[in-house]
Amino acid sequence: MSARPIKLTVNGVACERAVEPRLLLSDFLRHTLGLTGTHVGCEHGVCGACTVLLDGDSVRSCLMFAVQADGATIETVEGLGAIGRMNALQEAFHAHHALQCGFCTPGMLITATDLIKKYPLASDDAIRDGLSGNLCRCTGYEHIVRAVRAVVGKGDAP
Ligand code: FES
Ligand code: FES
Repeated sequence: MSARPIKLTVNGVACERAVEPRLLLSDFLRHTLGLTGTHVGCEHGVCGACTVLLDGDSVRSCLMFAVQADGATIETVEGLGAIGRMNALQEAFHAHHALQCGFCTPGMLITATDLIKKYPLASDDAIRDGLSGNLCRCTGYEHIVRAVRAVVGKGDAP
């Protein structure tokens, strides 16, 4: 199958590549662009580790082809902050011990970013509901909810 040209913006950087139509968006981000912060766990839409923002909405990048993202704006965990300049949510994850092995963390951070922007998250149950599509095999859910709670309603929320 012949490669198709796509153009998209990832973490504020415009990029243009030719990709096989069957290439998953998760593999495009990780292998073509080298953005390995987006993790791949189940590869069938269950775990949420591969979650990225596509035009402002959280999506499973393992359930999309890269060609479907042609023209889109994508934000991955690398776009949230960096060592030495973490954003408020990342700081909260650090402060509240909201990660153990860290495998689920990129997906948790991206999903929580989307939730905080769109919903009032007035209770811990609302946060749990919002994060229920992201699995943490280290079972750190309580700390993750606390970290999100610490950021909700603050002016410096991501
Ligand atoms: S790797 Fe995409 S949902 Fe699990
Ligand atoms: S911190 Fe290990 S999977 Fe969540």
